[in-house]
Amino acid sequence: MQTSVFEDQGALARELARRITDAIRQSPAIVLGLPTGRTPIKLYDELARQTAGRASWARVRTFNLDEFVGIPASHPSSYRQFMEQHLFRHVDAAPEHLNFLDGTAPDLEAECRRYEAAIDAAGGIDLQILGIGTNGHIGFNEPGPELAARTHRVTLTHETRVSNAGLFGGNVEQVPVEALSMGMATILHARRIVLVATGGRKASCVQQTINGPLTTMLPASFLQLHPDAEVMVDREAAARLEGATSR
Ligand code: PGA
Repeated sequence: MQTSVFEDQGALARELARRITDAIRQSPAIVLGLPTGRTPIKLYDELARQTAGRASWARVRTFNLDEFVGIPASHPSSYRQFMEQHLFRHVDAAPEHLNFLDGTAPDLEAECRRYEAAIDAAGGIDLQILGIGTNGHIGFNEPGPELAARTHRVTLTHETRVSNAGLFGGNVEQVPVEALSMGMATILHARRIVLVATGGRKASCVQQTINGPLTTMLPASFLQLHPDAEVMVDREAAARLEGATSR
């Protein structure tokens, strides 16, 4: 897998935002797969800044990776609100082109099927941006004896709920126990994938993602199978990679 190491989070965000802006200019109806979490906040900031006046979001279509079960779209802790706050309200995106899983749908299995069909109808994801959990999860595909291929309902690990507590006033008990997430095949079918990781907490999972064996115990390791997947990291997240030099 191609790996790019950056001096710091800011340099990484600027470069990835530049590439996404160019991609939107080249393909105005591009289909983007987007993550939430702390890692992409700087990226979204940069992206809003760089696309302003240079690239229109009017025809861009987006699919977010995951959403909590039981949290309505209007709830301040939903991933939809996160995206509104950090990206969508700052760009000229068309609301009907912004796709989210609905964690309050009466039939969650049908909701997962609807999402897969919507991705297919859009022609598939052109560029999927991913974060990574310290446990190696991508989307909410948590480590375990098996992984699900398609969009599905998941039980979150305690570690993942702790890392999302910030969205719920710091109270881990308030973080839902379940979520809906794109599956591993949904992610791996994207034409291009960029995984972003920053900070020393991610050094170990990044090292295993790139150099470790393929294992369901580290879902991100399956990115090694993708023909066009790149890992973009800052120096701290690259700490365990041998011979990595930053740009
Ligand atoms: P983080 O989360 O960006 O807040 O570290 C990433 C993830 O869990 O996928």
